[in-house]
Amino acid sequence: MKGDDASKNEQNQFEGLIQGLLNDEYGCSDDFLQPDIVAGLRNNIQGLFQSGDLKSAGLGNKDVHHKNKQIRGDKIKWLEEKSEDQFEVAFLTKIADFVTYLNKTCYTSINQFESHYASYEQNSFYKRHLDQFKNDKGRKFSLVFYLNQDWQKEDGGILSLYPKDKAQKDISPMGGRMVFFRSDEMEHEVHPSFTRDRISIAGWFKS
Ligand code: OGA
Ligand code: MN
Repeated sequence: MKGDDASKNEQNQFEGLIQGLLNDEYGCSDDFLQPDIVAGLRNNIQGLFQSGDLKSAGLGNKDVHHKNKQIRGDKIKWLEEKSEDQFEVAFLTKIADFVTYLNKTCYTSINQFESHYASYEQNSFYKRHLDQFKNDKGRKFSLVFYLNQDWQKEDGGILSLYPKDKAQKDISPMGGRMVFFRSDEMEHEVHPSFTRDRISIAGWFKS
């Protein structure tokens, strides 16, 4: 069981993400998970890279599956819902708690979560896009959880968000940082990283 302080802290994080979404069209929470969990997940994706288990990501879902490096250059691997890896379990458990909180406080009726590791090799990017597919409206909210160690400005890899009625927002992909926005409304873009691979877990709440 989590102590009172831990669950209070967790609630504050969830509340911060939700308030950000309501006020600014996106939420951002640093240190969403403890550094040892971020390190474990980072280690996992590095292992997947070495074993050749990261695959070029497609565009759109099932029926449109052309790969196009001009639009999107990340390599991915989907997380298993029933993972037994302790770091993935820690991540998925916290996400499940967030879903419970969202559904309770915002009546969102989220009933599914999907997520994948993503690695953007040096100089690869993802052009401006929305996360909701034209032929599948299931994705309601998007999140990105960054795994990069000591990411610096010179490393590039900025996430730009383009809210409808507000100025562009640039976010650095610092390890431990969580970003949260609506899949059908927030256009966004991943800029090239200049110096090294840019690693994360991207996920979607569905209903
Ligand atoms: C995506 C995406 C953003 C990021 O995977 O759809 O937009 O910052 N990722 O990695
Ligand atoms: Mn996206």
